[in-house]
Amino acid sequence: MIVTIDGPAGAGKSSAARTLAQRLGFDFLDTGAMYRAVTLAGLRAHCDLNDQTALAGLLAGIRLDMPPNQVVLNGENIAPLIRTSEITTASGAVASSPLVRTKLVEWQRQIAAGRNFVCEGRDQGTVVFPDAVCKFFLFADPEERACRRHRELQARGETITLDEIRSAQQARDARDATRDIAPMVPAHDAILLDSTHLMLDQVVERMERAVRQRMEKR
Ligand code: DC
Repeated sequence: MIVTIDGPAGAGKSSAARTLAQRLGFDFLDTGAMYRAVTLAGLRAHCDLNDQTALAGLLAGIRLDMPPNQVVLNGENIAPLIRTSEITTASGAVASSPLVRTKLVEWQRQIAAGRNFVCEGRDQGTVVFPDAVCKFFLFADPEERACRRHRELQARGETITLDEIRSAQQARDARDATRDIAPMVPAHDAILLDSTHLMLDQVVERMERAVRQRMEKR
């Protein structure tokens, strides 16, 4: 059984997905971490992330495993390395590559096969798991999202201004929403949830209620 949570960065998808998965007794898959892992591999290999042939070569040499709380790239847990602004910015090119998307969609379906998962990303309800039992599109006011991201990066010791985050976020939202392949849009059957004025617990409660209702109906 699959539950999907899509939406823009900073809406609280990861925390909501993780907590919802715990409450339901499901596993949790952060698909953004997979795009970030490929980006890190590309940067390390000095690969031109806009060059599809180079990306194809890169993908051929990658093995990505997603055990709980880890992102394992060719045997190395790179989870602590993929949340930097550098990776965030560079991940746009990787996430726009049809080649990369095809491969990652395949891996995501393989990981989830035969298991119960809460999957979060941009295209989980629209492309990867169109038959998911319950789909959410979680969003929040852009200013609130930028502030959340700012606090998160500050806590991690990164010195970046709120203005820089605002403009990077605007560019990223526009890029994610307008790209040709798998743009970030709500699935036609997704439940829209605005987290601007909600605490994490309130978001998760609403989600859990909706999922359990759907599960009862099946
Ligand atoms: O959610 P995130 O910020 O960790 O995502 C990292 C990058 O991957 C970002 O550029 C959006 C992209 N992404 C995507 O295109 N599709 C997904 N399912 C998940 C993330």
